[in-house]
Amino acid sequence: MPRLFFVGGNWKCNGSREANRGFIEELNRAELPTDKVEVVIAPMSLHVESVVRSIRPEISIAVQNVFINKGAFTGELSPSAVKDFGLDWAIIGHSERRQIFGESDEFVGKKVEACLRASLKVIACIGETESERKANKTEEVIFRQLSAIKKELTRVQDWHHIVLAYEPVWAIGTGLTATPDQAQQVHETIRRWLASNVNSDVADTIRIIYGGSVKASNARDLASKKDIDGFLVGGASLVAAEFIEIARSHL
Ligand code: G3H
Repeated sequence: MPRLFFVGGNWKCNGSREANRGFIEELNRAELPTDKVEVVIAPMSLHVESVVRSIRPEISIAVQNVFINKGAFTGELSPSAVKDFGLDWAIIGHSERRQIFGESDEFVGKKVEACLRASLKVIACIGETESERKANKTEEVIFRQLSAIKKELTRVQDWHHIVLAYEPVWAIGTGLTATPDQAQQVHETIRRWLASNVNSDVADTIRIIYGGSVKASNARDLASKKDIDGFLVGGASLVAAEFIEIARSHL
């Protein structure tokens, strides 16, 4: 079965009630056939409820982060509360969480597991920094990040609830996009790792999306690559027309 194209809009710590309203009005009018593209928007937590209320039902909403548990953890979101609220998705392991908030590979693996246990699907982010790429460590870093996730998963079928987002840190918010060939090469490597370390069914069916300065002007070329199954979009997801064009880039 072909992999359903997946486009996530990660609004990060951006948005206001008014800006979100305008964005959603435009998105709700866009032609986005659900049999051809799955769209997920991740607003700031504070805005989730109003976005859920106004967005068309076939577009899912994700949180941008969760903690691994509920209880006395001031400022955090528990996976079970996110599920109870009615959401299906969480972004886990974004490089901003790893770099700014010090989340280790191990912690990211635990968060992925906690989400799956709460029946949330996960957009799990992995990717190397600029210095790691320059030191030819891209594979090593990505395999280490994937292994940390694998270590926490007890069932092979858990992988079917994960979308992997390859986001080279040097390309995030910098305007420096990985070339389609660079991204394709890493996506293919990730699929190879999954075939050897999980199984060939997971390797063939999992969506591996690319993130890092994706824009309407480069999405089509990236989307044409055989192992690129969609995008996780940051900056360009804040402008409805641009985001819609990206979501339609493989149609
Ligand atoms: O989650 C999205 C990524 O961090 C990409 O952000 O499109 O602004 O480079 P960007």
